[in-house]
Amino acid sequence: MCGIVGYVGPQPALEVVVNGLARLEYRGYDSAGVAVLGGGSLRTEKRAGKLANLRKALEERPISGDGAGIGHTRWATHGAPNDVNAHPHVDNDRRVAIVHNGIIENFAALRMELEEKGCKFLSETDTEVAAHLLSSEMAERGGDLPAAMRAVCKRLEGAFTLVATSVDDPGLVVAARRNSPLVVGRGEGENFLASDVAAFIAHTREAVELGQDQVVELRADSVAVTDYDGNPVEVNEYHVDWDASAAEKGGYDYFMLKEIVEQPRAVADTLLGRVTVDGQLTLDEMRLSPEDLRSVEKIVIIACGTSYHAGLIAKYAIEHWCRIPCEVEVASEFRYRDPILDQQTLVIAISQSGESMDTLMAVRYAREQRARVLAICNVNGSTIPRESDGVLYTHAGPEVGVAATKTFLTQLAACYLIGLYLAQVRGLKFGDEINTVIAQLATMPEQVERVLGTVEPVRELARSLADTDTVLFLGRHVGYPVAMEGALKLKELAYMHAEAFAAGELKHGPIALIEDGLPVVVVVPSPRGRSVLHDKIVSNIQEVRARGARTIVIAEEGDESVRPYSDVLIEIPAVPTLLQPIVSTIPMQVFACELALAKGNDVDQPRNLAKSVTVE
Ligand code: M6R
Repeated sequence: MCGIVGYVGPQPALEVVVNGLARLEYRGYDSAGVAVLGGGSLRTEKRAGKLANLRKALEERPISGDGAGIGHTRWATHGAPNDVNAHPHVDNDRRVAIVHNGIIENFAALRMELEEKGCKFLSETDTEVAAHLLSSEMAERGGDLPAAMRAVCKRLEGAFTLVATSVDDPGLVVAARRNSPLVVGRGEGENFLASDVAAFIAHTREAVELGQDQVVELRADSVAVTDYDGNPVEVNEYHVDWDASAAEKGGYDYFMLKEIVEQPRAVADTLLGRVTVDGQLTLDEMRLSPEDLRSVEKIVIIACGTSYHAGLIAKYAIEHWCRIPCEVEVASEFRYRDPILDQQTLVIAISQSGESMDTLMAVRYAREQRARVLAICNVNGSTIPRESDGVLYTHAGPEVGVAATKTFLTQLAACYLIGLYLAQVRGLKFGDEINTVIAQLATMPEQVERVLGTVEPVRELARSLADTDTVLFLGRHVGYPVAMEGALKLKELAYMHAEAFAAGELKHGPIALIEDGLPVVVVVPSPRGRSVLHDKIVSNIQEVRARGARTIVIAEEGDESVRPYSDVLIEIPAVPTLLQPIVSTIPMQVFACELALAKGNDVDQPRNLAKSVTVE
C-alpha cells in the first residue's frame, strides 16, 4: 500500500521519479506527489487522484531538480485523499520533505508534543509528524539527515517506510523501514529506492534487500545501510530475473488482460525444473529438509483474499494425497483465536506480494509458537519469505493489475507441488502415482491455453449482464473455492453484489435469494471423478432453475448431463478433479474483467483497493 520512489543521480530526478511512480501506481492511487531539490530549495507538487492529475499539474507548473528526488502514490489511511493530505509532507521551514508508507500508530501523541513546541500542522495525516520530527532532530544534529532519521525511527510505533530528502544535503536521499517494503536499485553513478523493483527496472536490475529496522543513505555513487543505532549492516544483493517489458502492457489496454493471457507461461515457469532426471520431485529452494517435513503432524494455511482461495483448494489436495490434517484460515483472524501450534505444525503462508501485513503478522505469530513456516510467494526478497523458514517461489513474473489472476494459478501449481513433495518424502504414495500427477500437472499450461482460446462467448455473456445487480456462484469440493474466487473478482472489479455458496448449503437459507432471471454461475465437478458430487450439483442446478435463476454452468467438455439445465454452458477441458481449479477459474476471471470493462471501470486500479495491503 502506497508506492514510494527515491532517486539520486545525473538524470532529471523529476522524470525518473514520476516514471517510477507510474510503475507503482497499482499500490495506491488516491493521490500522488513529488519533491525535488533545486536551486537550494525544495520543490514539491502533489495532487489528489491518479498520477495523471499530478502529471497535468506538473505540465502546467513545471518544477525541476538537480539530482535527488522522492515521490509517492497514496492509498489513504489517515486523512481524506485530497491535495493537502497527499505526500510529500514538509516541515515548517521547508528544509525536509518526506514520504511514507504504513501507519504511525503513536502519531496523535507525537502531534500533540510537536504542536506544543510550536509546529504548525497542515494535514490530517500521521506522516506529517515524521516531517516535523525529522526537522527538529536534524536541528539538534547539525543537519545530519541519516542520524536524524535513525532518531526519528526510534520514536515511531507502527509500520513504516520513510524516504526523505533535505536542502541541507542535496545529493542525498535517506530511507528507513520497519514492517513495510523498501528495496534499493544499484545503478552506474546513480541509485534508486522503491517499494518494489518495478519502479527502477527500466534503469537497473541489480537490487539490494533491506532488513527490518534499517536505514539507508543513498548517494549517486554509494549506498550505505545501518541499523537504527548507526552500526553498518551486511546487505543481500540480487539480480532481478525479469526486465522492464514484463511490467509493461505490451499492446493490451489493461495489465489484467495481458496477465490473463500470460497464464500458460506463468504456470509452466512455476513447474519448471521441479523434477530430476530420475523422476523425483525436487524443491531445492524450499529450505526445509525432508526430516522437517516427515515430522509434520498438522498443516495450517494462512493467507488473504485470492491467496486464501488458493489455500482452500490446497487443503483438498494435501489431505487427499498426504493424509495430514490441514486447516485454512484467513490470516487477519489467525493469531486472535489462540491457534494450537507446535514444532510439528507446518504453517504455509501464501502471499503473492510477500508483504500483506495480515499474513506477515500471522507468520510471526506462528514462528513465535515454534511452528515451521513455509511461504509461497511471487516476489523475490519480500518480507514474508525472508521471515519464513522456507519458501517456494511462484514464477508468474510481475503482476501489476490489482486483481490477482496469473499469480492465483501459479499459487495453485505451487500448492500441488508441495502436496506431492510431502507425499514423496513421507513415502505415502508410490513414485509412479506421484509421477502420474506430475505428468498431469505438466499438461496444465496447454489446458489453460485451450481455455483462453474459447472465452469469447464468456465475454459476450459478461457484456450482456452489465446492468445486473447481483450474481451468485455455486460450487462443491474444489469448485467451491473457485466459486468464491469468481465472486471476489466480480466484487472487486465490477463493484457488484456477488456471493459464493457451497452448492449443498444453498437450501439452508441462501436459496431464498433466487428470483426470476438472477444469474447463478455453477462450477460443476467432473462426472468422471466423484460422480456422486457431480450428480448432487446437477440437482442443485435444477433447484435454482426451478425458482427462476438463469444458470451459467461451467462444466467439463462432453458432460451432456448438465446441458438441459444450462441457460449458458461454458465448457472447460477434462482434467483430474483436484486440478480442475486451474482451468475452471479462467472463465470467471474473463467474466469479471469484461463485465467491469462494460461498466466503464478501470480493471487495473479498482476503486478503494491496492495491490499490496501493508496495513492491518
Ligand atoms: O499479496 P497477497 O497475495 O498477500 O494479497 C492478498 C490479497 O490482498 C489479494 O489476493 C487480493 O484479494 C486480490 N486483489 C484479489 O484479486
